Amino acid sequence: MSDFIKRHQPKTVDDLVLSNITQMVIFNMISSGVSNANLLLYGANGTGKTSLARALIAGYFEAHNDNDMCEYINMTKMKDFNKLRNTIGLVPRNVSGRRWLLIDEVEKITNRHLLDELHDIIDNSYNCSFILTTNNKGALPGGLISRCQAIGIEAPSPDQFLSRAQEIVIAEGIEATAADVLAVLQQGAADLRGYLFRLEMFCLSRRMAQRTVSVPAVPHTTPPQKTTP
Ligand SMILES: Nc1ncnc2c1ncn2[C@@H]1O[C@H](COP(=O)(O)OP(=O)(O)OP(=O)(O)O)[C@@H](O)[C@H]1O
Ligand SMILES: [Mg+2]
Repeated sequence: MSDFIKRHQPKTVDDLVLSNITQMVIFNMISSGVSNANLLLYGANGTGKTSLARALIAGYFEAHNDNDMCEYINMTKMKDFNKLRNTIGLVPRNVSGRRWLLIDEVEKITNRHLLDELHDIIDNSYNCSFILTTNNKGALPGGLISRCQAIGIEAPSPDQFLSRAQEIVIAEGIEATAADVLAVLQQGAADLRGYLFRLEMFCLSRRMAQRTVSVPAVPHTTPPQKTTP
């Protein structure tokens, strides 16, 4: 992850750009603590699923005036379900006694037995809410999907992401018009990773251009006149 991406990673829900009303409804549902349903966020790469899940959980704790007690598990690394069970047991409870688990990239579990174990863990984990994310909902068994509220996540359009992109450009100390920034967002695929990459390149090129302009021109010196003795 580049420093640029790190600097502008969304940390709170206010930093998130939600593409449609459904996501807003879900956010309100979770952060207000009205519902503790398990969620399955599905969608293409770079649509912001992991960022949304993290911010939703952080928002929940903020709404409950509590410390963030979320465990993040990426399924690429988690192959041992005994370890998963133990991890769930170790996640501290918040004041309301609730625990959250973010299980990222759940489609990476290809072993049927492990998937059955996950059903069992979800069914029997007392006072624990799960947010699962996946790029490939079609690869998941129906039993897992039916245990969650499945929400399709789409990347915001360039227009929707524009004001956040302008904030990023300003934070980088770059002057640019809204039309300039919109053109950058529209230059390629509409996904958050693409937006961030293009904005990074844009800021870099603007900064280099500014430096070139501010470097003083080499003074033109006239060659010394030959003097005849
Ligand atoms: N609102 C936002 N503002 C700025 N950057 C964002 C925003 N939302 C997401 N990002 C950035 O976009 C990138 C992609 O987001 P994220 O990793 O959440 O997508 P994803 O859907 O989980 O992708 P994948 O399916 O590949 O895991 C990340 O670098 C993240 O920091
Ligand atoms: Mg992700």
